[in-house]
Amino acid sequence: MQKIRMAAVGCGQAGYGHLETFMAQPEVSLTVAVDIDEKRLEEISKKHNIDASTDYRDVIKDDGINAVIIASSNETHPGIAIEAMKAGKHVFCEKPIAPTLEECREVVSIARKHQRIFHTHFELRHSVVPVRIKEIIDSGEIGQIRSMNLVHYRGPFRPAWKGQRKLSGGLTLMETCHAIDLFRHLSGCDVEEVFSFAPPRVIPYYDYPDTEYLVLRMGNGIVSHITSCHTRSVTDKEGGFKDDECYEEQYGHQYEYSILGTKGSLRYKPLRGSRLFVYGFEGEGEGWDCVLRRTEDFSHISYNEQIHGSDRREFIDAVMEGRDTYITPEDSLRTHEVCFAVEESGDSGGRGIVPDRL
Ligand SMILES: NC(=O)c1ccc[n+]([C@@H]2O[C@H](COP(=O)([O-])OP(=O)(O)OC[C@H]3O[C@@H](n4cnc5c(N)ncnc54)[C@H](O)[C@@H]3O)[C@@H](O)[C@H]2O)c1
Repeated sequence: MQKIRMAAVGCGQAGYGHLETFMAQPEVSLTVAVDIDEKRLEEISKKHNIDASTDYRDVIKDDGINAVIIASSNETHPGIAIEAMKAGKHVFCEKPIAPTLEECREVVSIARKHQRIFHTHFELRHSVVPVRIKEIIDSGEIGQIRSMNLVHYRGPFRPAWKGQRKLSGGLTLMETCHAIDLFRHLSGCDVEEVFSFAPPRVIPYYDYPDTEYLVLRMGNGIVSHITSCHTRSVTDKEGGFKDDECYEEQYGHQYEYSILGTKGSLRYKPLRGSRLFVYGFEGEGEGWDCVLRRTEDFSHISYNEQIHGSDRREFIDAVMEGRDTYITPEDSLRTHEVCFAVEESGDSGGRGIVPDRL
């Protein structure tokens, strides 16, 4: 079997996780790590016995590499992705594709022009519980979707570059994009207009709002609501989350969502019990009521696997089979277009914005 020869560009919190997971796959030979942090790079290269470089162009020039993981800071994504694809490499790219819409579009057009596989790491779609939720929705059990709601309280981003809009793209592209992408996927409907309200920020090192409340008007009359807030959760000093420990009730973290349909509804509560509640409706007229049909327990699966499941396997399969991954570049672009509209709406004090689509 011809192995996929990979390099990892950006080996911080997310990139290092990708590096380790890809290295463990039998179809992959990951031989080069790239990071501008020399100390970190040295540790990784020693630990895994792989080459190291502080300049991603070394990877671009290397004809032996045929796929690149990009998990550096967001403003570097488009330049690296475009150069890599022009040099014939497939790309597994962390979200967002880029901090500006123009750059996102350019990356997608280069992927198509050079016929490279370009995957955005919107992993929520492919994770264990969303896959189950999609299955329930598609079975018709809860009828037609009428609305969706997601609440996410967490602590501040670290390191500080993530709080800078120029480097990261802002709160929606950094965080809420996952929920928007998930809702588009679960409903099969696109977002037609967005209304975002963002209060003045509290976190001192952010230059964009740390909280946003948004309403998405979607196809089929669906209305969705997302709360995204970074100021109500204790984090450890590195800003990472330790399963169980940081998710205890008193530390303030909250992540859950509901899908409400014409025949029933779903409530997914991954933390503190990891359960999916399935409700149905019974009775007529004034006797109409909501009943609990069942509870599906996912507590035997780690939180990460439940909602941040691995789409690395999907990328490998797509490269081996020469096909798009479950999220085509254009589909990913649709989610980004909504995110840019949300940022614009928030900046304008909640004006309704129609996503800019080509
Ligand atoms: N999908 C998810 O749920 C998820 C979660 C966390 C982070 N992310 C994304 O992953 C990416 C990285 O985030 P992180 O949390 O690992 O941040 P991080 O700051 O921990 O890591 C970024 C790394 O990139 C390196 N870097 C910066 N510029 C570089 C360049 N030009 N060449 C090579 N290396 C460079 C930095 O030195 C750092 O080690 C971001 O795009 C972020 O949005 C996604």
